[in-house]
Amino acid sequence: MNIKDIWKTKSLKQVLHSAEKSDLKKNLTSTDLAALGIGAVLGTGIFVSTGVGAHMAGPAVVLSFIVAAITSGLCALTYAELATMFPVAGSTYTYSYIAFGEVIAWIIGWDLMLEYLVSSAAVASGWSGTFVGLLKSAGLNLPTVITHGPTEGGFVDLPSVLIVGLVTCILFVGIKESAKLNNAIVLIKIAVIVLFIVLGVFHISVANYKPFAPFGWKGVMAGASIMFFAYIGFDAVSTAAEETINPKRDVPRGLAICLGVVIILYVTVAVVITGMVPFKAISQNNAIPDALTKFGINWGAALVGTGAVIGMISTLLVMLYGQIRVFMVMSRDGLLPKVFSKVHPVHKTPTLCTVITGVLAAAISGFLPLQEIIKLCNIGTLFAFVLVSVGVIVLRKTMPNAERKFRCPWVPFLPILTIIACGYLMSALPLETWIRFVIWLLLGLIIYFAYGRKHSELQKANAPIYTKMLTWVNEHHIKFPRHKEKK
Ligand code: ALA
Repeated sequence: MNIKDIWKTKSLKQVLHSAEKSDLKKNLTSTDLAALGIGAVLGTGIFVSTGVGAHMAGPAVVLSFIVAAITSGLCALTYAELATMFPVAGSTYTYSYIAFGEVIAWIIGWDLMLEYLVSSAAVASGWSGTFVGLLKSAGLNLPTVITHGPTEGGFVDLPSVLIVGLVTCILFVGIKESAKLNNAIVLIKIAVIVLFIVLGVFHISVANYKPFAPFGWKGVMAGASIMFFAYIGFDAVSTAAEETINPKRDVPRGLAICLGVVIILYVTVAVVITGMVPFKAISQNNAIPDALTKFGINWGAALVGTGAVIGMISTLLVMLYGQIRVFMVMSRDGLLPKVFSKVHPVHKTPTLCTVITGVLAAAISGFLPLQEIIKLCNIGTLFAFVLVSVGVIVLRKTMPNAERKFRCPWVPFLPILTIIACGYLMSALPLETWIRFVIWLLLGLIIYFAYGRKHSELQKANAPIYTKMLTWVNEHHIKFPRHKEKK
């Protein structure tokens, strides 16, 4: 095989063809899709990590939320163009297969695993923190050895492992059932956030806003690089494009509603919580319910905590879902073993992809600390959006006439701005996170050159005819009779 083959691109026709061949049910409506987005986005970021951001930025965490929101908004605009251009599962991975060729697509797919898999683990870990806090307030103290990983004085975070197991089972049963459950949970989640705002607003003390930015702009940026996590998930809307009834209409609509609702909720929560509690006293494990407890509103804290625990399940659901779908498409393309993408005859979900994803997410959340998981997840996601933005620019040149239901405005200016915004947030993450990220990418490249490049469907399709014949013969286990040697 020629080394230049690693740059081979898929055509739009090939992508849409593989989507048509897919056995996935096409039954998600626009409402399901919007709820899927909000369900993914509202989670550990707002309920648990707001306290972390506040400790980094002070009351100016409000600005951190706004900086992260602007970055996410820019990403959503560029992303929606590609999502409606290629309404198939696999999101950014699929676009980069067309825009940049196989090796970059692999890098992105591998990087997206970092986003979805690692954020699933982060959400499960945040869920566990809130759940354990709820049990504690009800008088039930679980021992540290089963609620924290080894770096935090325990052995395994068992509640997070169990919740990943439960959600994996729900996903295995099928998308429609999952979407229905998700819709109900989204309503609960929004309700408890609104309840917190309504209860908390009467306890704001203006003195808590001073000093507003104790750590300056650097603190605001450090906070934004963490709080970006709270917005992650809106892109999961697009990974479900293949399973929607009308992707070209539903995807941009779903993205817009989702981000609009979330930004308003986050900024309001940030203003209220930093007004209620001096920023140094905001809990880093259970920020929102704890703020209510501090004012003796225990019933409110219990209600918000319960809602958060239920609500984070839907975030976990969508993150795991995104991971399973990227995994499935990469396997369908032959970059990972084909057996992973085999669809279950009854549930119509990819069995092995689902099981492996569940096991890996459970292992990460069970043994690694939340803060580190979040940083790794953020760097992976921001990098993916950089590539999406480059993709928009490249595809406007290479495929100017392809139909785009949603056109990102001011190309190339806006995608360039998106790249700068993502790069800026990435630059605020610590060096260790960068090192881990580079190691992950290198590991991915080793797997690509050792396996994916040799088994890729695209490479097979473009291979000379005799290679294709040989592959076919091998795949069908055909044995040719050997000539007997003449004595
Ligand atoms: N945005 C999601 C959350 O905050 C990942 O949990």
